[in-house]
Amino acid sequence: MLRDSFGRVATDLRVSLTDKCNLRCTYCMPPEGLDWLPSTQLLTADEIVRLVAIGVERLGITEVRYTGGEPLLRRELVEIVARTAALRPRPHISVTTNGIGLARLAKPLAEAGLDRVNVSLDTLDRDTFKRLAHRDRFDDVIAGLAAAQDAGLLPVKVNTVLMRGVNDHEAVPLLRFCLDQGYELRFIEQMPLDAQHGWSRADMVTADEILGLLTGSFDLTPDDLEERGSAPAERFLVDGGPARVGVIGSVTRPFCGACDRVRLTADGQVRNCLFANEESDLRAALRAGASDAELSERWIAAVAGKRAGHGIDDPSFLQPSRPMSAIGG
Ligand code: 5AD
Ligand code: SF4
Repeated sequence: MLRDSFGRVATDLRVSLTDKCNLRCTYCMPPEGLDWLPSTQLLTADEIVRLVAIGVERLGITEVRYTGGEPLLRRELVEIVARTAALRPRPHISVTTNGIGLARLAKPLAEAGLDRVNVSLDTLDRDTFKRLAHRDRFDDVIAGLAAAQDAGLLPVKVNTVLMRGVNDHEAVPLLRFCLDQGYELRFIEQMPLDAQHGWSRADMVTADEILGLLTGSFDLTPDDLEERGSAPAERFLVDGGPARVGVIGSVTRPFCGACDRVRLTADGQVRNCLFANEESDLRAALRAGASDAELSERWIAAVAGKRAGHGIDDPSFLQPSRPMSAIGG
């Protein structure tokens, strides 16, 4: 098992398949993009599946989430999902995507064994989308969401990051839209993970503010049936349910004490936290011929050293040197 010194056990593996993306969301990367990882440093599909298999078969991983960058840009995604679904015990498999390309890929992914998707959507306004993501791809995202639902990738979850003066007036319309379509919306507090280091605490729309924005228009009751557990979202029944909305207060309501995640970057580094300052290089070990047992040992050691929390609110907090797109959401 992947147990840390505080007794937390990592069962949820997030794997970044590429650091590249076809959008440029301001909270993530600059309009000109980033220096992408050289392809020789990227794990191959075989290497990814080997490491995921070790996680599932030896280390107690029960959930595998493929992220990026934008994971749909990875050509072998359908194959990687199919090979993940063939592992035993079969893990739960999901993808976090910006939705572009999902119109084409939702069905093949579902057939390959994908269980669910999380789609990022921060606005319902095409111009705001262009301003926020620096690409005119709003229609592709909406089509991708619909395709995911048609393909049975349920429940379709939508992730929204609100930004002051940009899209914070859209909290209510976004929730209406998701309720109408049958998508489950989760608002995420903006975290200091952008490559440009432009995050500021004052600009962050907090969980309290988000709830304040919603309660004028909706009746929200804490969803007692769902223990928050390791799930980061605090969930609320909307107007008595059964529809729900989630609010992820990563910064102001941290859930580090119950965290069950571990991450594998696109270049084969284990990170025990989004905000970790250290990584453990599984790629080098793997390419030097390490056995499954040796790779497991390294992975166990990497998780054992996990810190208690991210400390974003601490004056000594240092933003991780790699941006979210390289770490995996
Ligand atoms: N803060 C909060 N959420 C972020 N995401 C990307 N960057 C940030 C950030 N700085 C979200 C994306 C996507 C998921 C991977 O994380 O919107 O839904
Ligand atoms: Fe791409 Fe996701 Fe970053 Fe937006 S947040 S630029 S969709 S990787």
